[in-house]
Amino acid sequence: MAEGASPRRIAVKVLERIENDGAFANLVLNATLEKSKLDSRDRAFVTEMVYGTTRMRRACDYTLDRFLHDEIEPLARIILRLGVWQIIFGGVPAHAAVSATVEIAPRRFRGLCNAVLRRISENPLTDWPSEAIELSYPDWLMVQLESDIGKQNALEMAKTMNEPALAVTRKDGYHQDLSSQMVAELAINGMRAGDSILDLCSAPGGKATLMASGEVWTVATDIRESRIGLVANNAEQLNIDLPLVVSDGCYPPFKPKAFNRVLVDAPCSGLGVLRRRADARWRITKEEIERLVLLQEELLLAALNLVAPGGQLIYSVCTVTSAETIELDERFRKKTGVQSCGPLPDPWRVHGEGGMILPQDLNSEGMAIFRYQVE
Ligand SMILES: C[S@@+](CC[C@H](N)C(=O)[O-])C[C@H]1O[C@@H](n2cnc3c(N)ncnc32)[C@H](O)[C@@H]1O
Repeated sequence: MAEGASPRRIAVKVLERIENDGAFANLVLNATLEKSKLDSRDRAFVTEMVYGTTRMRRACDYTLDRFLHDEIEPLARIILRLGVWQIIFGGVPAHAAVSATVEIAPRRFRGLCNAVLRRISENPLTDWPSEAIELSYPDWLMVQLESDIGKQNALEMAKTMNEPALAVTRKDGYHQDLSSQMVAELAINGMRAGDSILDLCSAPGGKATLMASGEVWTVATDIRESRIGLVANNAEQLNIDLPLVVSDGCYPPFKPKAFNRVLVDAPCSGLGVLRRRADARWRITKEEIERLVLLQEELLLAALNLVAPGGQLIYSVCTVTSAETIELDERFRKKTGVQSCGPLPDPWRVHGEGGMILPQDLNSEGMAIFRYQVE
């Protein structure tokens, strides 16, 4: 990339990588910004453009397609989406959005970009054919959310997750969303100094480092060695002593009843954190959720064996699908006979026998949690 490339040019390069190579938005964006010479204001603008255009892709395409009669080159579509995002969602004055976007288009379709963006800025859309298109989610995902948490909750959740994520920093300097902090605090709530907790799916270590920062003896595992490296780095930076083990949580290398508590912060569909992962809504599938539920149940069953009598098993996910929360919880209790610990404190919403925070509740990530008393 040319030195001194403009924010919009850089945004287009990143969007091309996401679109054409299936690159993860956050990874390619961070790597590209690292190499750029942009100041912090321009970096923030590139981030907003890339995440915004990625999230609102469906709504941008719908807006564009009203004015396009033939299929266009993929690069032209990427540039046009970026223009539409600026005009409709990004709050960039239309004349600036149009001229600055046309300027970065290759000469061969500058005329097209100019004509289409001008028409869009002069004819703002007021009648969207569906909420899924207006809020820019796949149809199946809106249907799923509406059936799992109700239409009103689903719409508010979908809207909130189109906003940029808030940056929240813990007292020790670690960046961690509020609802994740609340899960970690609940997981160790009421434990005594010297009691032990295992974090079975711990990487990158947000919850483990919070739990280990007090008097509770915390051990962290994760299946992926590279991700355990992230936990190690985070613990080291925070100067926290945190024993780490690479292991498959379905076959944990510990004696039965070895811990007072076990936290299973399971791999999940991540529908509660879509605002942080701009491209995730276009990746996740129903089949993937079905696969994840099987893994979540296996992890819970393995974790239950590791809890000492009188202890607790805590299950959390950053999603709100019934399959990964209420339905799994019911099946797990029926299969094992364990009891829930009882209602959760405010501001957790009642979610079956567990609790849930929706993104719109605290302007945070969406989370669900279930706690079990082990006899
Ligand atoms: C939701 S993330 C955990 C986030 C972490 N607890 C935190 O607060 O930073 C889920 C993690 O589960 C790990 N994982 C996936 N399958 C696993 C398995 N079979 N055993 C253990 N960990 C697994 C993934 O590598 C991923 O790091």
